[in-house]
Amino acid sequence: MSSEFPQTPDFTVQEERLQYGAEKKKQRDTARLIWASKPRKEPSPKDLDFQTAEIVVPNKATGDLRSFFEAEKKEIDTQPNRLIWGDNLLVMQALLAQGYEGQIDLIYIDPPFNTGENFNFPNEVTIGDQTFEKEMPMSERLAYTDTWDRGIDSFLDMLYPRLQLMKKLLANDGSIYVHIGPNISHYVKIIMDEVFGNVNFLNEIVWQRTGAHNDATKFGVVHDSIFIYSKSNSWNYYPVYISHSEEHINTRFNEIDEDTGRRFFAGPITAPGSGPSRIFRGKLIAPPKGRHWSYTQEKIDELEAKNLLYFSKTDTPYLKQYMDEYLEKGRRVQSIWTDILPSKTGNEILGYPTQKPEKLLERIIKASSNEGNLIADFFCGSGTTAAVAEKLGRRWITTDLSKTAIQVTRARLVNQNAAPFQIQNLGNYQRQLIYMRDVKLKEMYNIILKLYGAAPREDMQGFGIKQDDKSTLVFVCEPDRPMTGRKAIDLAKQAYLADGKGYKKIVILAWDYELDFDNDFERLKANKKEIASCEFKVIPSDVLKYLRKTGVNGGSLADKITFYQKPYLRMGEPNVRQRYGDTVDVQIKMEQYVVLDIPLKDEEKRPEIEKMLAKNFAALIDYWTVDWDYDGEVFRSTWQAMRDRKKGEPVPVVADASLKKGKKYTIAVRVVDVFGNDASVTKELNLR
Ligand SMILES: C[S@@+](CC[C@H](N)C(=O)[O-])C[C@H]1O[C@@H](n2cnc3c(N)ncnc32)[C@H](O)[C@@H]1O
Repeated sequence: MSSEFPQTPDFTVQEERLQYGAEKKKQRDTARLIWASKPRKEPSPKDLDFQTAEIVVPNKATGDLRSFFEAEKKEIDTQPNRLIWGDNLLVMQALLAQGYEGQIDLIYIDPPFNTGENFNFPNEVTIGDQTFEKEMPMSERLAYTDTWDRGIDSFLDMLYPRLQLMKKLLANDGSIYVHIGPNISHYVKIIMDEVFGNVNFLNEIVWQRTGAHNDATKFGVVHDSIFIYSKSNSWNYYPVYISHSEEHINTRFNEIDEDTGRRFFAGPITAPGSGPSRIFRGKLIAPPKGRHWSYTQEKIDELEAKNLLYFSKTDTPYLKQYMDEYLEKGRRVQSIWTDILPSKTGNEILGYPTQKPEKLLERIIKASSNEGNLIADFFCGSGTTAAVAEKLGRRWITTDLSKTAIQVTRARLVNQNAAPFQIQNLGNYQRQLIYMRDVKLKEMYNIILKLYGAAPREDMQGFGIKQDDKSTLVFVCEPDRPMTGRKAIDLAKQAYLADGKGYKKIVILAWDYELDFDNDFERLKANKKEIASCEFKVIPSDVLKYLRKTGVNGGSLADKITFYQKPYLRMGEPNVRQRYGDTVDVQIKMEQYVVLDIPLKDEEKRPEIEKMLAKNFAALIDYWTVDWDYDGEVFRSTWQAMRDRKKGEPVPVVADASLKKGKKYTIAVRVVDVFGNDASVTKELNLR
């Protein structure tokens, strides 16, 4: 299609809308979208704590750590940028409880809109130079099945309360962009009309996302819609201009000014709606039927005095639009966007299936926000919104419930050398999810035990006996706190003595392990004989899917879900290499990282992977990071190494820093692997 049509003179959209709004107020709209499970109550703020898992200081140089901390202080203390892992419903409820109501200047969301089995999140991993399909025991699968298990109804159940929360978070002069596919956009438009008010509807942008699509029996679908709403009758809008095509210029500017020789286009000066006649060159001229003159008499006289009016052979007045001025200004972008195609290759591509082009977000952010404004994207994906907001000097908050999305976004921001930002999650996230699904704690323990193939014990809450090995006791950890080394030792002692006869082994199922779990456990275990042997497993987040179903029948479900062994990380002692003046060069080396169960879809590939990892365990690592001066509370990543996703090159296994003499350091190391598992260790270093 030709992308450039003649333009009408500029009217301020605002005036037009105020007029329209005033007319609208007279009649009340009652049309609504109804579906059987439509939530009746708006979600309310929830007093949940955010836990800062990490403060990321992306500057890749290792030089002057102090300056990183100063930068961090400035950025984080005032308004920290935040990458939050968790369900956006809870995250938004928590933000509201923390005073974020009316604080966000611009929201862009791109929620998942697949109806088929083709989940739009990455399920491939690259280890070394091989790409494998991973099994999907991840929380992302839960999100997608939850969202689509009853088709459109469940999608609307998901989106509607979230839009209500977004409206509350939006600043009074803020705007929201909702990016959505044509298979569902009409429903979304109607619920947005309801939530934001149809008088606040600004645009439907039609974004052509691909050149052609071969749909055999219908027209190829090549676009998405982006709905834009304001919150009130005042909002930020900065027109965007792009250059004109040569073809358009040549066909459009087909008149020549006799006096100056300048090329111009004769633009109409009428608009829809009737209006009075005006005097042009001493002659009263009525506007065409059903239209009115766009200018007052005074303005017409002014234009005439400046020789800016052109009269056709039939004496119809037009406005001269000069080509030279027009070229300088460029073409004002309208509601159909055909000039931003996703690049298929290049640095921007991160392998995230639904990644949107940075140019798209750049246009949106520039059109609807100012520098320093706060931008949010609650369906972060690969982090395009945060990455562009960062580049354009805006502040940002972004959330995703997929760990992969958090990892990809983290790497993206580090690579672009973003200002320090926080990675957070909701402290009692698991417990909240469980409550959301109306499950009692005892019920939850029992379901997890059954899923693991253990028979729950009535007399000891949280304990069970492994059905195929009666000498093994199983324990499920509380959902809102990590397993500690001390607690594990206590459990091992308890198992050794239990029931008079004792148990040989205890399997501990935990959602999370404390930062230095392995070290603590090994230290406390030393020389203790009267304890059962321990095995540590991680409860996969997709057990939550089963928590809704009461009366879970253990045996049959036990093979549906895999509890992976907690990965093992071993670091060597810090090595002091050089001492100069008041600083010391220190190196720390990763000696081993082991994932005991690798979640692969295709079992045949396992030996190949195991062989590769025997040669180089680092191939399994997505990134690792070091806080050289861990304060026991917040992990500050001041050094980091990331695998090169494109080249498949593994991370280096040593990290260096120069540290000031005169104090004791706790060096904390955190490793995240390609499956999203993490493991951490601390090491002490005395430089007194
Ligand atoms: C279509 S993708 C977003 C892609 C993104 N615009 C980009 O440029 O990469 C949708 C994302 O929403 C996330 N998501 C789905 N449901 C969610 C929820 N309830 N809370 C947070 N994130 C969610 C998915 O994990 C996925 O990463």
